[in-house]
Amino acid sequence: MSSSDIHNRKTEHLTLARDGSTQMRSGNGLDSIRFEPISLPELDFSEIRIDSTFLGKPISAPIMIASMSGGTKESEKLNERLAVAAQAMQIPLALGSMRIALEQPELKKAFQLRHIAPTIPILANIGGAQLVEAGGIQRAFDCAEIAAADALIVHLNPLQEALQPNGDRNWRGVGNAIKTLVEESAVPIIVKEVGHGLGTTSVKQLVDLGVAWIDLAGTGGTSWAMIEALRAGDLQRAEIGTAFANFGISAVETLNAINQEPEKYASCRFIASGGIRSGLDIARSLRAGATLCSAAKPFLDAADKGGEAIESLVATWCEQLKITCFATGSRDIESLKHARLLHAQ
Ligand SMILES: Cc1cc2nc3c(=O)[nH]c(=O)nc-3n(C[C@H](O)[C@H](O)[C@H](O)COP(=O)(O)O)c2cc1C
Repeated sequence: MSSSDIHNRKTEHLTLARDGSTQMRSGNGLDSIRFEPISLPELDFSEIRIDSTFLGKPISAPIMIASMSGGTKESEKLNERLAVAAQAMQIPLALGSMRIALEQPELKKAFQLRHIAPTIPILANIGGAQLVEAGGIQRAFDCAEIAAADALIVHLNPLQEALQPNGDRNWRGVGNAIKTLVEESAVPIIVKEVGHGLGTTSVKQLVDLGVAWIDLAGTGGTSWAMIEALRAGDLQRAEIGTAFANFGISAVETLNAINQEPEKYASCRFIASGGIRSGLDIARSLRAGATLCSAAKPFLDAADKGGEAIESLVATWCEQLKITCFATGSRDIESLKHARLLHAQ
């Protein structure tokens, strides 16, 4: 695929992701996590702590801006805006796929945000299918270096690639390539989906390959099948894509399944995402077993309004998360993870 094809595709992705019709109709599944309200919390709200650490750095809340963009003029501005806000709010920032910077080195700048965000975790990003191309492993290391990243994300999106015009359809050897990355990378490797989720079969494979962090990127939010269906440009491809609009598994479904056999996955920590739209969603995801949550679309919408809107979104989610702690008698994230739940009768 040529650089101009990648450029056009990225621009179309940004435009279509803003469109409400590319959000999944199936919910994020988090309504199933029901906290018991605690009416005598024995807490002073001002003492509630939601800060923690991620990749060895302090963060103010377990919220990450998910991988989105980079490489086009529009997304260079978006990345800068996200980086300024992430630094101000002290939350991690994941960059979008850096493939374009490898093909067009003059576009590296869009991914070089360390001068704007010196103290937060920044995560580089590359597609799983790119790892098996010639020189793929070295190129992945280059991405981490270009971004001065604290970790490298590998995204697994076979469904999207199959639906995408000229998408990567050869996924042979991707697992082995991830194993090599884990063994040889100077920074931690994080593996994610892009919104259709990872079930326990894939999660177990990744754990066995030595992956220590997985972002489940499940259903309930942005639907890449719908985005590709709308991009298709011909009726047949649109029909093929639309059938998969709500395909996949939510992060909470996978976390619930993991909780049935926790010893199998003990070496791995999980980031919940896919339709995270409030601090209550974050609280529920943490209670279901996630260490952190990430979101893309809400940050895209906020960034369109300006840097202040991004900071305001983070502040809203932090306040909702703290209120959930208060209303469940949890003094911090660790106690929230053990808060009492209501179970279906
Ligand atoms: C505009 C846009 C661009 C994205 N680009 C990437 C990408 O380059 N690499 C990646 O791993 N995920 C990408 N994603 C997927 C997100 O990181 C996230 O996993 C997914 O959108 C689910 O989160 P959401 O429901 O909060 O949008 C993108 C999402 C959006 C909305």
